[in-house]
Amino acid sequence: MTNTRLYIVMVGLPARGKSTIASKLRENLIRNKIKTRIFNNGDLRRKLSPKDTSYPEFYDPDNRDGVELREKIALINIGRAITYLKNKGQVAILDATNVSLKRRKKTTELLKDHPVLFIECINEDEEILRASIDRKVTLPEFNHLRKEAAVESFRQRINYYESIYAPVRKEKNFISLDSLYNRIRKEEISDDIPFYDRIRDFLVTDTVKNLFLIRHGETYFNLQNRIGGNSGLTEKGRQQAESLARFFKKKRIPVIFTSKKKRTVQTAFPIKRQQDECVIIPLEEFNEIDSGICECMSYGEIRNTMPGVYAARKEDKYNYIYPEGEGYITMKERVDRGIKKALYLSSNPRNIMIVGHRAVNRMILSHFLYRRKEDVPYIYVPQDKFYHIVATQDKKLFQLRSY
Ligand code: F6P
Repeated sequence: MTNTRLYIVMVGLPARGKSTIASKLRENLIRNKIKTRIFNNGDLRRKLSPKDTSYPEFYDPDNRDGVELREKIALINIGRAITYLKNKGQVAILDATNVSLKRRKKTTELLKDHPVLFIECINEDEEILRASIDRKVTLPEFNHLRKEAAVESFRQRINYYESIYAPVRKEKNFISLDSLYNRIRKEEISDDIPFYDRIRDFLVTDTVKNLFLIRHGETYFNLQNRIGGNSGLTEKGRQQAESLARFFKKKRIPVIFTSKKKRTVQTAFPIKRQQDECVIIPLEEFNEIDSGICECMSYGEIRNTMPGVYAARKEDKYNYIYPEGEGYITMKERVDRGIKKALYLSSNPRNIMIVGHRAVNRMILSHFLYRRKEDVPYIYVPQDKFYHIVATQDKKLFQLRSY
């Protein structure tokens, strides 16, 4: 009989995306009628421990009390996971750091009745780590500290975990995942792992529930057909932003990603104001194409003063690189990085919004919707409509909507 029960044990340092992946995976499995539950050690610690466990020394491997309490919590969750699979449950996800070999050995010994799959989450991007820590320290357990002190405390906690971290390598079944780029770095599967294809395929898929992709409102430069620069919104552009804000008022938008340019932040601002809790995160990866020596010129001026540039771009718009600037071809890498960052930092909300620019939005669209390279620089990106994108393992939706 093939096994239809599975333990998934998450592995990784704090703030490496374990819980985000665990909860997305759970949702995905449940949608496929596979009974799944997460057993999270951090949540249990916060619930069970009457005293403060947020201070870094609690995580010192030489702190006996801390080690004992964390061990106890791990055992409770292991016990609960076993009971869950003995009853109706099919997949039990143990969400904790599990960074030491000792802990993983013990876990494997206790979880004997069904196969165990370790999923290790790794993220080596320092900027992303900083941004995730910034979000972590908004947890109530850091309320008593000022932001810098909370960040410092969380960093120290990570250092303690790092001191006992042994990457997964000896386990019978494991996937080591780059959790920012959804890339499998290494895998080893020796047992018959139920739902394996679904799980593996899920881990490498970019999942967005509802991505609202908006182009900034009209700017003074748009009126003159000028490219690049950092111009602000016109009165019409401000009106467009207000209409967007009214349109999205009833949807919950927890995060809006913008570029670092004035026009996208000005468009996002009224939307944020209409929301209860919403943050704007400007990412330079979403800045508009850098048109180098042509920045701030109109298309007419480029044609008249630099006919060679104009003709060469017209000839092969995707591959053309503006002198001292970028081309679609060279923007791809940074825009893809921006998308990964946005998905990582939004840690699983239903609705994500990006307010970008014409060329950037074309690249974002082409990330989710296949287009031949030569057609990407011509994708329709109007200012009075937005794209609604759903991209999950089971569903793709792509809709241009009015607001
Ligand atoms: O005109 C607005 C704009 O966003 C410019 O800043 C940018 O250079 C241009 O559109 C990109 O569009 P295209 O690649 O079609 O020139």
